[in-house]
Amino acid sequence: MRLLVTGGLGFIGSTFIHVVLRERPDWHVLNLDLMTYAGNPANCAALEGDKRYRFVRGDICETVAVEEAVADGVDAIVNFAAETHVDRSILEPGAFLRTDILGTHVLLEAVRRHGIARYVQVSTDEVYGDVSSGESLETDALQPRSPYSASKAGGDLQVLAYWNTYRTPVLITRGSNTYGPRQYPEKLIPLFVTNLLDDQSVPVYGDGLQIRDWLHADDHARGVLHVLEHGEVGNVYNIGGGNPRTNVEITRMLVDACGRSMDTHVRHVADREGHDRRYAINCAKTHALGWTPQVAFERGLHETIAWYRENESWWRPLKNGEFLAYYKRQYAHR
Ligand code: DAU
Repeated sequence: MRLLVTGGLGFIGSTFIHVVLRERPDWHVLNLDLMTYAGNPANCAALEGDKRYRFVRGDICETVAVEEAVADGVDAIVNFAAETHVDRSILEPGAFLRTDILGTHVLLEAVRRHGIARYVQVSTDEVYGDVSSGESLETDALQPRSPYSASKAGGDLQVLAYWNTYRTPVLITRGSNTYGPRQYPEKLIPLFVTNLLDDQSVPVYGDGLQIRDWLHADDHARGVLHVLEHGEVGNVYNIGGGNPRTNVEITRMLVDACGRSMDTHVRHVADREGHDRRYAINCAKTHALGWTPQVAFERGLHETIAWYRENESWWRPLKNGEFLAYYKRQYAHR
């Protein structure tokens, strides 16, 4: 299997590459990544020298870059390349439309042109929008409400249109909130852990009673791999952790594990604009395909906290420059 993984220097993409090369020893992976702020070479540094792995810097929105990446022949593409942070999409939506919609289009065209056997679009449960009760099914209408989720939904709709129109062999996975080692420290868990380790406070949006379903990155990666190998083309598969928690519950777990106090280290700040209260996906279809999450949430979270504690050299350089400018812009007025 010759696999083209896009966005493989990011959090979930790099986790996927590690899982693939560990669990499928005879596969080869070409990693195409633009190295934006979230694409970190350190995430795949352990693979340097591994003959099964190759990295190319490039943009999925550029046809020439994608053509070069598939020129030697690839059997499948798994697309992790995306702008992913909701708060950034509220500040600057343009980059999200470009990568998440145009980039998807460029990849789909390459699949069509070269007759690539399988294309997996890594998407998100956020495309279903706010779910006040019950659970979203793969067949539910998409009701995205942020510039980020609208861009991802735009990508999904193109993927499904290629199936409907050209019978391009596509699959879509829709994952829930993912956590684990090597996540850029803008998202809830790595931001809060690194702030708390640094004895800084953490900003909880609004009342903090929003609910997210937490999925370990290894489980997410194994889910995508499972869908790549066993999914039926033209189908969508939800990949959820089955660990619904309020943000306040998560915050309390992190505060306790880092030896801080809710009174001194937690600030309730102005809510995110258009903030979705709850996501919940029904994963029966993916479970029936043979995938279920393996990592127990409490254990996974504590191992993740321990990873950040032990790998300060990974995250400390990131909480500088670009990140500080973003942090100020995002949080100073709150
Ligand atoms: O559901 C899957 C999605 O999960 C992915 O598609 C997105 O790429 C990923 O960013 C994530 O989206 P969220 O917006 O849910 O993740 P985030 O970590 O930004 O926020 C999780 C919750 O925590 C959300 O309700 C907002 C809240 N939050 C977040 C930050 C960064 C805070 O209260 N304070 C914060 O500073």
